[in-house]
Amino acid sequence: MQKVSESLSINQHCFSPRLIAAPMAGYSNTATRLLYRQMGAGMCVTEMVSAKSLVMGSRETFERIKTASAEDSVSLQLFGGCPEEMGEAARIVSQESKVQCLDINMGCPVKKVAKNGYGSQLMADPSRVFSVVQSMVSRGGLPVTVKMRSGPDQDQINFLEVSLACQDAGAAAITLHPRNRHQKFSGTPAWEYIHKLKQILTIPVIGNGDVFCAQDALYMFEKTGCDAVMIGRGAIGNPWIFQQILEIERGQNPIKPDLADKVRMAVLHFDMELEYSKRPEKEYLRLRKSLPEYFRDTNFYEQEKQKIQTASDNQELRNLLLHSGSW
Ligand SMILES: Cc1cc2nc3c(=O)[nH]c(=O)nc-3n(C[C@H](O)[C@H](O)[C@H](O)COP(=O)(O)O)c2cc1C
Repeated sequence: MQKVSESLSINQHCFSPRLIAAPMAGYSNTATRLLYRQMGAGMCVTEMVSAKSLVMGSRETFERIKTASAEDSVSLQLFGGCPEEMGEAARIVSQESKVQCLDINMGCPVKKVAKNGYGSQLMADPSRVFSVVQSMVSRGGLPVTVKMRSGPDQDQINFLEVSLACQDAGAAAITLHPRNRHQKFSGTPAWEYIHKLKQILTIPVIGNGDVFCAQDALYMFEKTGCDAVMIGRGAIGNPWIFQQILEIERGQNPIKPDLADKVRMAVLHFDMELEYSKRPEKEYLRLRKSLPEYFRDTNFYEQEKQKIQTASDNQELRNLLLHSGSW
């Protein structure tokens, strides 16, 4: 088995270690990506960006494809379903953004996205998938990866067929979150599907789903033979997870952040969010929901969450974070 600290090759790019921060709408912005990368992620995927909005010239969407100069291992995720539109969006990204890869969202289960045939619903039409990937590969010039579920429906578990279509069309890697669209986040992800996929594809396979601690990640590598592990919810409020995986692999005791570490990290995260925000004065509205997660496994979590969620400006939120657990 390859070591986690070795690199994952996606076409001409190498990403090391083989740990990827998942795309998460509302979370995976510049600040969070930079923090996760500093903490040991080998690559970070952006929140999903609408190909249609990009092609239509939306200024706001254009801002979202820009990365910070300090970022070096980013994959930009697009969602859509029209081959021409996705190809044109890929071309725009390759010209206007400094990202290393493009990713296609074939996993989003929400109705608003699926009703247009996008996200996980795109999997219902493998020939369209082929055209989308081919169009993005030929027009964008960047490596194109695909993130998918096990299928668009419980009666249509077609990840093997769809992955082969992606590979034939020139995709450079596949990420599999092995739940179907209707499961959303319920039940247990079928990691055996990741193992199956790894056996049939020649391009790298990235495993995803329910990696909540460092041991889970190592277990996923071992059970599935995947080329990299992608972590989503397990990194929210716990960016140490990337570091912990590498420490365990090296035979070291993984860091166990204490309250002071959690406070420092939450405040650092808050400061980075303001630094990279386009409208910093309003950031407290979003951050007061996510930053309490730093205290998720403490016995004052519920109490602290309630308090932090009432913060009425950035200064108050920062102060509450700074004094978490000490009131
Ligand atoms: C709040 C939230 C937002 C998400 N946004 C996206 C997204 O924009 N694109 C995507 O492909 N998946 C998205 N996902 C799915 C995750 O990338 C990931 O596949 C899923 O959470 C399973 O991995 P995990 O168990 O490590 O969290 C999102 C998940 C959550 C919880």
